[in-house]
Amino acid sequence: MISPTNPPASSEAGGLQAAFDAALRSIAGLASVDEVLQVIVDRVRPLVGAEYAALGINDPKGRIERFITSGMDDETRRRIGPLPEGHGLLGLIIRENRSFRIADINVDPHRYGFPPNHPPMASFLGVPIAVNGVSLGRLYLTNKIGAAEFSAADQALVETFALHAGIALDNARLHEQLQRLAVVDERERISKDLHDGIIQNLYAVGLSLEDVPDLMEADRPDAEARVERAIDSIHLAIQDIRNFIFGLRPGLLEGASLAAGLTALVDEYRHNTMIDIDLELPDPVPNPSPEVTGHLLTIVGESLSNIVRHSRASRASIDVQPATAGTGYILRIDDNGIGFDPDRAGRLGHQGLANTRDRVGRIGATMKLDSGPGMGTRIVITVPAT
Ligand SMILES: Nc1ncnc2c1ncn2[C@@H]1O[C@H](COP(=O)(O)OP(=O)(O)OP(=O)(O)O)[C@@H](O)[C@H]1O
Ligand SMILES: [Mg+2]
Repeated sequence: MISPTNPPASSEAGGLQAAFDAALRSIAGLASVDEVLQVIVDRVRPLVGAEYAALGINDPKGRIERFITSGMDDETRRRIGPLPEGHGLLGLIIRENRSFRIADINVDPHRYGFPPNHPPMASFLGVPIAVNGVSLGRLYLTNKIGAAEFSAADQALVETFALHAGIALDNARLHEQLQRLAVVDERERISKDLHDGIIQNLYAVGLSLEDVPDLMEADRPDAEARVERAIDSIHLAIQDIRNFIFGLRPGLLEGASLAAGLTALVDEYRHNTMIDIDLELPDPVPNPSPEVTGHLLTIVGESLSNIVRHSRASRASIDVQPATAGTGYILRIDDNGIGFDPDRAGRLGHQGLANTRDRVGRIGATMKLDSGPGMGTRIVITVPAT
């Protein structure tokens, strides 16, 4: 966030600056566009002592798409009727894209007139909100309390506020967009995983059972063996589905400490697989920030899922130890399975290891992956102390 370029200049600057800073802080951390919009209007109104404030968001053609108000109760808003359409003064401000300060809009030549039931408004301040030259909307303030009109200092203050509001709004929009994309990605991954894994397995089970009725007479032992294999396969499919559902519930580990999260993960895999999984934790267990913990638990979750899906291992271990040199700690994930050639693992559609490397980088850790056909797999992650 950039610092205010136009700090409030009046003599009561100290209190005003504090109110200004508090207003900025309240919009900075919000993630949803709706929240940001409402907090912007609610905060700007007392900042300049206006009776009413509104925030008009325009669509790319400049038409008012949303109009968020502050200082007006629901009943008054309802009685005013539909959104302003951008005639008269509001339209002029949208077209000219600059600030307007007007002593009395009732005598302004551009006025279009208020609809019936609109509360009386006289003094007016309108300021555009733009980010990188792209107009997002406008702030409107009316009826300066305790003075006949808004001052040049009020205008400067709202302009600075609008600069920050634009950035917060843009961030919130990007954040919402990213979340929508993440949901689409996740849906694609789920359907692909279901299709390639569980559905194919169940399909094969169905095929293998098709001629069992005939076999019952012709070759009963073979028929019985097939039914038994089918039962085993269905059990495996159930395990797969359980693992899959577990993988879809990242919330389960949310907020957990490293020790609790690792224990929960290992327990879940112990219950749902035949693999003997060992967990070794030092005393005291490192307790990194929630962000680092989240990354480490996701890494271990992905590694365990790789072990279950690809390694054919009978044993695996998760081991946390203080680092031998310097501060920090080491997380080791081992299995005694078939191993693989890491140089050939980065094929299209295989995201797990790439994501793991990315997470390792993001927490400032380093990672060593040791594997090869027939030798099992070992991942060693060295995490610096924070
Ligand atoms: N512990 C392991 N034992 C044997 N092979 C492994 C192990 N971990 C990974 N692999 C091999 O490395 C490949 C890449 O792993 P990665 O996690 O990147 O992708 P994936 O598991 O196939 O798919 P995704 O994780 O995107 O669902 C796997 O397909 C598998 O062949
Ligand atoms: Mg994987």
